[in-house]
Order: sequence, then structure tokens, then C-alpha cells
Amino acid sequence: MDFQLNESQRLIQSSARDFALREIAPHAAEIDRASQFPFKQVKGLADLGLMGVNVPEQLGGSAAGVVAYSLAMQEVARACASTAVTMSVTNMVAEVVTHFGSDAQKARYVPKICSGEYVAGAFALSEISAGSDPGGMQTRAKRVGDRWVLNGAKQWITSGDQAGVMIVWARTGLEGTRGISCFLVEKNTPGLSVVRKEDKLGLCASSTVSLSFEECALPLDALMGEEGAGFKVAMMALDGGRIGIASQAVGIASAAHDESIAYAKERKQFGHAIADFQAIQWMLADSRTELDTARLLTLRAAWLKEQGHAFSSQAAMAKLYASEAAYRICDHNLQIHGGAGYVKDFAAERHVRDVRVTRIYEGTSEIQRTVIARHVLR
Ligand code: CAA
Repeated sequence: MDFQLNESQRLIQSSARDFALREIAPHAAEIDRASQFPFKQVKGLADLGLMGVNVPEQLGGSAAGVVAYSLAMQEVARACASTAVTMSVTNMVAEVVTHFGSDAQKARYVPKICSGEYVAGAFALSEISAGSDPGGMQTRAKRVGDRWVLNGAKQWITSGDQAGVMIVWARTGLEGTRGISCFLVEKNTPGLSVVRKEDKLGLCASSTVSLSFEECALPLDALMGEEGAGFKVAMMALDGGRIGIASQAVGIASAAHDESIAYAKERKQFGHAIADFQAIQWMLADSRTELDTARLLTLRAAWLKEQGHAFSSQAAMAKLYASEAAYRICDHNLQIHGGAGYVKDFAAERHVRDVRVTRIYEGTSEIQRTVIARHVLR
């Protein structure tokens, strides 16, 4: 067993860290407060090759693998969780098109996603009544002559208003998971509109929107993969996406933990630095243990995926544990900061708001437990 990173992984990690510290972290609080999408930061990530970390070079990616992707995501999330989720979903879309797209679809979309010519990619699966249960979706696609025509609505779509291309799931057959197909839909396609921008608890600088499809006509070759096989594409994409979100949670928690240590050493009460008190030491010790556990589970899932092994349940475990542990670590950080943690002078309150959604999106903690239990009982 080897816990060392290889040279290319170390390189990606350090270039992501340098960029995140220099160009992302200084603006994180300000763009959160202004709910301002991080265009410049996202383009910078694309210029560094971080919008297609696990995508082959001939399609414009960095071909650095899943472990490198996780490491880069951790560094970006440590600086700004909003920028990180934009990066996570964009990488997921680039990978899914690389994996399931036709040669023409790959050539048309993947280089534009990786290079930043497209601001982002989007993943339009969820609907108002189909969140944990995407098999219950109601958006429909009907073949009419030489077109697919989409009608319906999607909800909570990350970067849905910014994406140059999005993967949209729609029902082309009977009810249930076997009647679903997926399509590649370009920005500004007539019939596609952004109907609402969400006002969120956290990740305020990322964009989350509702979309409407009204007689939205697509060419026949907008279908990605086999007709009726879209649900499995979504499930496989989410298996990989969950490694991204686990990495995001680890990154946010790392930032919070570093801040806890610095503040505990600096803040004095009763004539001592609060780091001298056992109550604070135990919080720091628990946080460090949970952070290391979360990181190891996440890197194991990334490694399994990279090596071509089954990783669905390990990705679910990583996402479940990392998101829940990160929430506790961010809460400890706020507690250690006391009153100062509850106001916006420190990042502690932002971390608590940002980290909360990692227990919800790309499958709630309850869904991760369902996935894990199914594997355990198989
Ligand atoms: N890989 C490949 N195939 C899979 C699979 C996987 N991981 N999981 C399921 N399948 C296949 C099954 O084998 C089955 O195949 P057959 O039809 O051949 O039998 C088919 O898919 C249906 O599977 P299930 O019967 O298990 O489906 P289900 O309806 O019971 O759902 C579930 C299972 C795990 C609960 C799934 O619905 C799920 O993951 N729900 C959560 C959805 C989710 O994560 N949404 C997040 C939205 S995206 C987002 O948040 C992005 C963002 O912007 C940040």
C-alpha cells in the first residue's frame, strides 16, 4: 500500500493550491456576499486544465486522473466552495460526455468545456417532484420527424444559466427508470428558458436555477447514448460526481480546521490562549481525526475509479462520511470562534452555510445510505 502521491498528482495539487490561494480565496467572502458568479476564477481554472482533469488530452483535458481531480477540488473548495461546485459539475459533465457521447458529440463539446470557451457545463436531472427519485421525472422528449421535442421543467440546476451545454434527462418511454434518455442541449436553444434563480443559504456565488423546456426542439443527434438508457448514465455520472462532492466537503473542512487552530492559538481568555483548554483541544483532535478519515475515504474512492474498479458504494461512503464530518468540523470551527464566528468578519459562518448542502446534493445522506446498504445486502 502506497500513501504517496505521484509527481503529476503533486503538480496538480500545488498548482491548484497556488491558484486558489492567489486568485480565489481573496475574493471568496466578497462574491458570497454579492451573490456574484466567479467568472474570472472559473476561467482561470480552465486555463490551468482543471475543468477536465480526468479527460483525455486529445479532447482538451489534462488526463491527470481521478486522484488528481480530487486533490485539485479539495484545494479549490478550501478557498471558495461556490467556485468549487461550479468546477465539480463542469468536470462531471466533461467526463460524462467523454464516456457516453458519440465521437461527434465529444469533439463538439468536450474541448469547449475544458478550455473555458463554455463558462461551465450543467447536469439537469432533478425536478420539483423528482429529487431523490429521478426515476419519477416528468420532463418528456418526443420524437417528431427529424427532431426531439422537450417539454417539462428542471430544478436546482447548478450553472444552468451559464452552461454552454447541459445534459438533460427526459422521459422518452414508459414510466420508470427504463424510459429515460439523455440529451445534450446547448445554451440559447429556443424553448429553453431560465425561469428562476435560487436565493440560497450558502454557495451564494454559485448559480442554481430552475429551467423550463417548452416545445424545445433538438436535432436527432442531441440524444446521448442509447434511447431509454439514460437513467444508468445518470447513476454512473453521480457515482463519479459524489467523489467530487466528497472532495469539496474535505476542502471546506480543511479551511475551517486551519482557521480553528489559528484562532485557538491567538484568542485569549482567563489569561490563556483558548488552545490551552482541554475543551478546545478535544474539538481540534476530533476534527483532525474526522478530516483525515474523510480524506482517506475520498481518495480511496478516487483511486478505485482511476484503477477501473467498482467504486459506487465507496463513493457513497466517502460522500456520506465527508459531508457529515465536514459539517461537524465547520460547526466546531464556529464554536471555537464563539461570538466572532457568528458574524461575517470571519469565514466560519460562511463555511457552515456552504458545507450544509454537501449532505443534500448529488444524493442526500439518506440516499448514500440506501446505496451502501444495497451493496452490503447484495
Ligand atoms: N451504476 C450503473 N447502473 C445503476 C447504478 C449505478 N450506480 N445504480 C442503479 N443502476 C441501474 C440498476 O442496475 C437498474 O438497472 P436495470 O433497469 O437494468 O435493472 C436501474 O439503474 C434502476 O436502478 P434502481 O432500481 O436501483 O433505481 P431506483 O429508482 O431504486 O434508484 C437510487 C436508486 C440510488 C435511489 C437513485 O435514484 C439515486 O441515486 N437517487 C439520488 C439522485 C441524486 O443523487 N440526485 C442528485 C441530483 S444532481 C445534483 O445534485 C448535481 C448538482 O447540481 C450539484
